[in-house]
Amino acid sequence: MKHLNMVVIAALVALICCGNAYALQLIYPLDGTYVTKSNYLIVKGGTDPLLSGLTIEINGIKSDIIDVSPEVYRNAFGDMLVVEPSFDPGENQIVVEGYLGAERMSTVKATIFYQDRFDVASPAGFTREIFHDPVREQPCAGCHNMTPSLADLASPEARQNPCGSCHARMLNKAHVHGPAGVYECTYCHDVDSTPNKYQARPGDASLCMECHEDKLEEYRKSAFVHGPIDAGLCMVCHDPHASSEPSQLVMPAYDLCASCHARVVDEPHVTRGSVGKKHPIKGVINPAGNGEDLSCASCHDPHSGASSAMFRWGLSSRFALCAKCHNK
Ligand code: HEC
Ligand code: HEC
Ligand code: HEC
Ligand code: HEC
Ligand code: HEC
Ligand code: HEC
Ligand code: HEC
Ligand code: HEC
Repeated sequence: MKHLNMVVIAALVALICCGNAYALQLIYPLDGTYVTKSNYLIVKGGTDPLLSGLTIEINGIKSDIIDVSPEVYRNAFGDMLVVEPSFDPGENQIVVEGYLGAERMSTVKATIFYQDRFDVASPAGFTREIFHDPVREQPCAGCHNMTPSLADLASPEARQNPCGSCHARMLNKAHVHGPAGVYECTYCHDVDSTPNKYQARPGDASLCMECHEDKLEEYRKSAFVHGPIDAGLCMVCHDPHASSEPSQLVMPAYDLCASCHARVVDEPHVTRGSVGKKHPIKGVINPAGNGEDLSCASCHDPHSGASSAMFRWGLSSRFALCAKCHNK
């Protein structure tokens, strides 16, 4: 009880003596939350005192003091600091320190959980971090357009689009998904959802098929459809935004297939039963490709096919498959 009183008084004193002043604050992500593929760590330095520098430490790796005192910086960003952290998958300990010159004035700490994939179960003991609720967005509204009109949202340019002013970084990858690249964010993110704005529509096959009807046709015509697709899962393999891999794959094709088919990697494949060398399944050029490495997808269609093993080129005969690379 005594302890509680002390806290209340301290808060009152702060209010009386300093008006709006606030101390160093971690704006995103909050302690005890989990985030998925999130790009940012956001700190508000506060004006009590007006800090000149900040350090960010993640899992024991600490930055130098980041100088936020130059006037040009203050004019553009006020007391906000936005950095792109490299979180490790799993639990992360965040420590932010505020400095006045070389003297440390304040410290905030948080434990968060980072997931680098969408299709994994929520971690126990952490709640989902949601940034876009009207209260948390308030401190941004002075400089960013937080109540965009439909006309604003229709702009395909990062510089003009209201989502682009903060999220352009997520598209800094070699392969960008069509609608994300032209900032049609609100095709998949609901402009009217409350209280959490911009909630994603369920990212299952039915959403994807609204624009990829040709794929739907392809599966309808095929005798065999791949397990995950039969279950309506497209995002186990594709990122809806961008990736460093072709077709926005969530990881290199070989690793992706191997993540569910470990047995194939361990056992002899393709030429099972015959003696001699194992058939390569990676590490050589695909003779039937465009100069890319051989991988699972060089022989198997990732979506569907005419045989249970879903050979490429709609083939159902093993022999015809071999001939695609070995007929010379
Ligand atoms: C004092 C003005 C100001 C305030 C307040 C402000 N920002 Fe910004 N922010 C900027 C400016 C200026 C940029 C650079 C925009 C550009 O390059 O087009 C920016 C850029 C960003 C970026 C992109 C950074 C990058 O490098 O990709 C993010 C994310 C961001 N702000 C988040 C926020 C959030 C979240 C809030 C509210 C909690 C906020 N900002 C409040 C001025 C501000
Ligand atoms: C002021 C900067 C800012 C603007 C403008 C902004 N966002 Fe965000 N948004 C963030 C930050 C910061 C996060 C959390 C960090 C992250 O996910 O990278 C976030 C998270 C999200 C999330 C994840 C769920 C959540 O609420 O945390 C979605 C979805 C999202 N934004 C969509 C949008 C869309 C769509 C637009 C345009 C209508 C938009 N954002 C505009 C800063 C912004
Ligand atoms: C093709 C549909 C699609 C488009 C277009 C799209 N998104 Fe998403 N986005 C999704 C789905 C689906 C998720 C996953 C939500 C989940 O499962 O958590 C998602 C997740 C996100 C997240 C992370 C949410 C989290 O859980 O942390 C952010 C941030 C985000 N989108 C922002 C954007 C922005 C900004 C744009 C425009 C540049 C955009 N999205 C365009 C479908 C889309
Ligand atoms: C709003 C329409 C729209 C939605 C919804 C949509 N896409 Fe796309 N998608 C496109 C467009 C446009 C392209 C670019 C087509 C092109 O460049 O040929 C594209 C391209 C792709 C590509 C790359 C094609 C290539 O040639 O490499 C993949 C993979 C893909 N989408 C998967 C998905 C998945 C998975 C979903 C569901 C999460 C989805 N799309 C939802 C419109 C959409
Ligand atoms: C098991 C992983 C996996 C799943 C699940 C998956 N894809 Fe793909 N997809 C791939 C791979 C790998 C490629 C790369 C091109 C190739 O090798 O054919 C690809 C390519 C694509 C392309 C572009 C090339 C083409 O074939 O037109 C589109 C569009 C596409 N996928 C859409 C989808 C949609 C829609 C879904 C859900 C119904 C889906 N994918 C589910 C692995 C997958
Ligand atoms: C998310 C998990 C997952 C991923 C990723 C995945 N698969 Fe599958 N795959 C399955 C499931 C589930 C089945 C159906 C059950 C079975 O027969 O093993 C299946 C079946 C198959 C089959 C048919 C097996 C048979 O019995 O004839 C082939 C071939 C195949 N996958 C190839 C691939 C290739 C190639 C990739 C990468 C492009 C891939 N898989 C990625 C889950 C996955
Ligand atoms: C050089 C061509 C080739 C490559 C590369 C290849 N496969 Fe196969 N795969 C085959 C053939 C041939 C079969 C046998 C089909 C049959 O007997 O009907 C097969 C069968 C399968 C099957 C079903 C039967 C089984 O053995 O379980 C799965 C699943 C599969 N492959 C997955 C993969 C994965 C995952 C990779 C990459 C790690 C891969 N394949 C790479 C040609 C290939
Ligand atoms: C997508 C292309 C592709 C397909 C399809 C394919 N292979 Fe291969 N295969 C290769 C490559 C690449 C090598 C390695 C050649 C090298 O090292 O020079 C190889 C090597 C081999 C070898 C070892 C030859 C040697 O030089 O030691 C045998 C045997 C073989 N393949 C049999 C098959 C059989 C049987 C099939 C059909 C079931 C098949 N391959 C389908 C690409 C393919």
